[in-house]
Amino acid sequence: MRILPQNEKLRAYNEFFTPEESDIIIEAPGRINLIGEHIDYNGGHVLPAAINRKITIRLKKNGHENICTIFSSSYNCKFDLDLHNIKKSNVLWENYILGVIHFIHLLKPNSLLGFDCIIDSDLPMGAGISSSAAFECGFAAGLNNLFNLELTDIEIITVSQSAEQTFVGTNCGIMDQFSVVKGRKNKLIFLNCNTLDFKYINADFDPYNIILLNTNVSHTLSESEYNTRRDECKIVLDLINKNGNQFECLADVPKQILMLYKNSMSKKEYDRALYVVQENNRVIKATQALENNNMEAFGKLLYQSHLGLKNLYEVSCVELDFLVDYSTKHKEVIGSRMMGGGFGGSTVNLIHKDYVNSYIENVSKAYKEEFSISLTPIIVSVDNGVAIKKHNIQQ
Ligand code: GLA
Repeated sequence: MRILPQNEKLRAYNEFFTPEESDIIIEAPGRINLIGEHIDYNGGHVLPAAINRKITIRLKKNGHENICTIFSSSYNCKFDLDLHNIKKSNVLWENYILGVIHFIHLLKPNSLLGFDCIIDSDLPMGAGISSSAAFECGFAAGLNNLFNLELTDIEIITVSQSAEQTFVGTNCGIMDQFSVVKGRKNKLIFLNCNTLDFKYINADFDPYNIILLNTNVSHTLSESEYNTRRDECKIVLDLINKNGNQFECLADVPKQILMLYKNSMSKKEYDRALYVVQENNRVIKATQALENNNMEAFGKLLYQSHLGLKNLYEVSCVELDFLVDYSTKHKEVIGSRMMGGGFGGSTVNLIHKDYVNSYIENVSKAYKEEFSISLTPIIVSVDNGVAIKKHNIQQ
């Protein structure tokens, strides 16, 4: 990898190829999740959506058999890769690209030829809105189009998820990649992560707006603790199934059954599992509340979700807790919780539309006083999933 000095950056960018010269231009969105955190890999329900902040990926065939050049304007870096020799890199962002190519090779051997790629992002990294899934899914969808691979949406989703798990190293669930590909304007996705059955729900929160508040902290624990949570949940499920049950996933276990085994597991394991079972129920209730326009009930469930993530699942942090606590003292906010994997990133908040600006101003001041860190509000709307914006290829 080569980091480009600022003056070389623009030159590389312009000399490489212009938007007009691109064969394909793809836009891939980030995602929010209203409720159902750490539930996807436990086979339960989640309620995410794609958003209007995006990564743009431009691709162009370069005439080589196997050499590709990738340029990222966010990282201000470029690197070359050889399609005949794909292996993990020690540079994190390169692994998004390498992982996707590796898993496409497995599904469609010998289907790729040399290409160049430019990546531009409007998605803040570390904000918990899944810039990584946007990157992977956008890139996979782009190659799918550029080389006419005929991958299905589910293949694009699972190729991207496998890239994240194997090359990037987070043993993630399917929620992020699913939302990035299947998102629709003004619709939330009520998704069963075990069966992948889903339905679209109107993203209508009137008179409230969804506002993300980015803590701008990202504690280093996040990746290792994520994988540990996943292991802890598996231990509990195995224990319950070893005793004559046959639950496919932890989210399916009724609370009464879980309680039967309480004394056979550690307190920590019990707390993790209790959170999963409760959160899965909350997602179902929250979806019903939203369908009935009961915003108060919906907001309360968001608060309960945060308490579970903080006290039972233990993936929050002081900065996230501060923001949620602050909101409970302000009645213009009817729901707030940490969003995404945790240990930093953003909270998702439902703020009355008449008070959005004043609330942001006050909470930002309070946050700065407490931590000496600036808070970044992210105003999002619910938008379409991955979309091909330009296609110049003669098939
Ligand atoms: C990350 C993972 C997802 C999901 C969330 C927590 O975003 O990539 O699969 O587990 O954390 O809900």
